Amino acid sequence: MPEEYVEPMKALIINGSARKNGNTAALLERVRMKFKKVSIDVEWINLVDLKIEDCRGCLACKKNDRCEIDDDMQTIYEKIQEADFIVLGSPVYMGAETGRAKSFVDRLYAFLRFAEKKGVFESNLKKGKKAIVVFSCGLKDGDIVYNHLNVRYFNTFVRLLGCDDMRSFIIPSFYLVEKNKGSHDSHPLKQFLDETSRFIGVS
Ligand SMILES: Cc1cc2nc3c(=O)[nH]c(=O)nc-3n(C[C@H](O)[C@H](O)[C@H](O)COP(=O)(O)O)c2cc1C
Repeated sequence: MPEEYVEPMKALIINGSARKNGNTAALLERVRMKFKKVSIDVEWINLVDLKIEDCRGCLACKKNDRCEIDDDMQTIYEKIQEADFIVLGSPVYMGAETGRAKSFVDRLYAFLRFAEKKGVFESNLKKGKKAIVVFSCGLKDGDIVYNHLNVRYFNTFVRLLGCDDMRSFIIPSFYLVEKNKGSHDSHPLKQFLDETSRFIGVS
């Protein structure tokens, strides 16, 4: 009997850095390799190549369940719905994500609808998705200083958008330099590599 065809899982990697080969890309590349190891299809998007307007706050998405802005976000909406893993990377700019990463995240508001209960949102995102968010920063103790980003992004991807689970990381660029790559368990880069392996299911 022929074996049943199982669609491979899909990961969408979104790089919010202005530098396509910068530190953020170096971190995302490590995640990409892990997906490859377990035969998960990967698509990589550099936001810097795309036209993504800021959200206009028109709330048309709440009436029509779709954003009315006719730009590159329209194809990304489809790719996000198809993806099993959503991976977002951004450098830390002045304590936050880059402007283009924020514009992208703001536009995910189109996936939310108002629930009957006031002040509550429901998500139109298909169930079962997982998210990974990774920030690259210049401050050596940025993983501690910018911890608020982990909280914000957990709220956005899990509480609001309804992802099943997510992991987020803040990796100071200091640890990407060869001589600072440590192997002890509390090393931020090692934690990032180990935790993403577990999350993706790399043995
Ligand atoms: C405009 C700008 C603002 C930055 N602000 C911060 C900051 O607030 N905190 C920090 O730790 N690093 C900051 N950095 C450093 C970057 O986060 C860091 O170099 C990062 O690794 C760059 O990633 P990339 O190579 O993908 O661009 C800033 C860099 C730029 C260009």
